[in-house]
Amino acid sequence: MTRNIIVLDTTLRDGEQVPGAKLNVHQKVEFAQQLKRLQVDMIEAGFPASSQGDFQAVQEIAKSVGDAVSITALARAVKSDIDAVYHSIKLAQDPFIHIVLGTSNIHVDKKFNRSKDAVLQMGVDAVKYAKTLLPRVQYSTEDASRSDFEYLWKTIEAVVKAGATIINVPDTVGYAVPEEFGELIRKINERLKNLNEDVILSVHCHNDLGMATANTLAAVKNGAEKVEVTINGLGERAGNTSLEEVVMGLKVRENYYNCSTNIKTTELLRTSKLLTYLTGLDVQVNKAITGENAFAHSSGIHQDGLLKDKQVYEIISPEDVGAESMELILTARSGRHAFKNAVERMGFDTGDAADFEALFEKFLALADSKKEVYDHDVYYLVTNHRALQQ
Ligand code: KIV
Ligand code: ZN
Repeated sequence: MTRNIIVLDTTLRDGEQVPGAKLNVHQKVEFAQQLKRLQVDMIEAGFPASSQGDFQAVQEIAKSVGDAVSITALARAVKSDIDAVYHSIKLAQDPFIHIVLGTSNIHVDKKFNRSKDAVLQMGVDAVKYAKTLLPRVQYSTEDASRSDFEYLWKTIEAVVKAGATIINVPDTVGYAVPEEFGELIRKINERLKNLNEDVILSVHCHNDLGMATANTLAAVKNGAEKVEVTINGLGERAGNTSLEEVVMGLKVRENYYNCSTNIKTTELLRTSKLLTYLTGLDVQVNKAITGENAFAHSSGIHQDGLLKDKQVYEIISPEDVGAESMELILTARSGRHAFKNAVERMGFDTGDAADFEALFEKFLALADSKKEVYDHDVYYLVTNHRALQQ
């Protein structure tokens, strides 16, 4: 049976922590509206205790899209943070409080300088307090992937008994590898389902070793029911798990994962572009799914194969992620077939055989001089050729 995976977008909280990615309230609301069109299930809108501006942004997002999307915001395990979250999200229809507290020895010793039992009690008290405000509370065991398993489990057990309804397992510093992270999630899931089968198991990965998507998918394969992701993988350091990669991974390999999401994939590219426009941070050209070259094919052999049947070299239709049409970047190695296709796709008549041959010679001369030939080059080539014929 296909499982539906809950998608929480944290671009406006974890993503926005990136230097240079600061958005104003208006921009955040605009982006949240696009996330609603993308049909994410949940938005983590910010960290309201961090500043008055963040509080206001979370509040505006809750008001503007909280009718259709579940809204949360981040709190440390302290009363004032939890109060700030509650007051900023309470106008949404389905709000929940997100509490984070570390479970690794490094966090317990170096960050809190308290005993493990004392830190665990802080978490339990925070959940109990949050439950007096809202029925749904997410608890994140920060740095879970570097934590001692029995202490991690002891914490999860205690906060679930205190009322946590979502357990989020973060790979905070991107240290995990897929097999190991998948196994961690399998073990937690097995115990969690025995403890309380209604509690949702969630994961949140970072990309320090370039494995955030692989770790997230390994977690899904091993029972995770919710994924925390950002558009374009935006996030501190090497970033977070990219929403578009996980969603398309689950879609393209549906038979393998037996999972689906509610994401409207035809909105993916638009969402990615809006984020780059708002933040000024471009994605790398070869980025999976949303990079400029993600659907561009430049070798002659690939272009010829694609033109015979797209499935030869394409596992995702560009239209599925909202790309208007497949762009073939032409080079001196592109054959007549690819060039003719480009000319026709732009609405030009390719003329008789001799005329086309003359045009193709001009194309080869141009391609030799400038490596890649784009649509605007083809446009110039054809119009110039026609003008000389007048
Ligand atoms: O990376 C992390 O551990 C986080 C938590 C707040 C979930 O961002
Ligand atoms: Zn994070």
